[in-house]
Amino acid sequence: MHYLPSCHSTNEVAQDLLHTDVAEGTVVITDDQFAGKGQGGNQWRSFPGQNLTFSLILRPIFLMPKEQFLITVFLSLGIKEALEEILPGEVKIKWPNDIYFKNKKIAGLLIENVLRGNHYDSCIAGIGLNVNQIDFPDDIRATSMKLGANREVELNAMLNSLMRSIASYYSMLQQDKKAFLAENYHHSLLGLGEERKFSAAGEEFTGIIEGTDEYGRLQVRRGNEILTFQHKEIQMLF
Ligand code: BTN
Repeated sequence: MHYLPSCHSTNEVAQDLLHTDVAEGTVVITDDQFAGKGQGGNQWRSFPGQNLTFSLILRPIFLMPKEQFLITVFLSLGIKEALEEILPGEVKIKWPNDIYFKNKKIAGLLIENVLRGNHYDSCIAGIGLNVNQIDFPDDIRATSMKLGANREVELNAMLNSLMRSIASYYSMLQQDKKAFLAENYHHSLLGLGEERKFSAAGEEFTGIIEGTDEYGRLQVRRGNEILTFQHKEIQMLF
């Protein structure tokens, strides 16, 4: 565990550690991340000392690069399970890797893979979990554990619980329980089987999430057609 009172981005610090002989399972964590990276070049903003912002170094050398969606799968399930100890029932995975509580984002994941030829070298899994922050900008659909549970949650206890749960899902992946993980992910998807509004290629439509394919692409039923989308090609509207 590398604890930094403040840093620009734990994912960046973890990337630097990859040039040393850092062990799998190393965690870089900070209380005050001032240039946090989000998906798609966005920023991840987190009030100092109120939330968890950390990165986990993995060496999933047993996976093929084409199986990289399984990293998203096991991490999202690990986070979901740890959250459910405090927020039972309504924690879902919004495809591909956002964790939602009651239709609002409570945690985000930024997975950065280092591939070498046709093999995995390492993977940085950056996790931002809103724990005790209660104010969020109006233009983002965000919530926190404190808003959901109506009480403060101790950060270290939550980190321990996340680590336990993530480690247990990682060992399922190491033991090749891929079908079980995929099934569990499928049933955890936000909006699964429900009629929802989407926007894709500049058009809005109503459809039903059917699941994901083996590469993790989203499958949405629109009328009699099943449409397949890559990350960022479709947005679910609320
Ligand atoms: C998202 O956009 O949903 C992904 C957010 C990921 C944020 C975490 S916070 C810890 C780690 N370090 C970063 O710079 N980003 C990730």
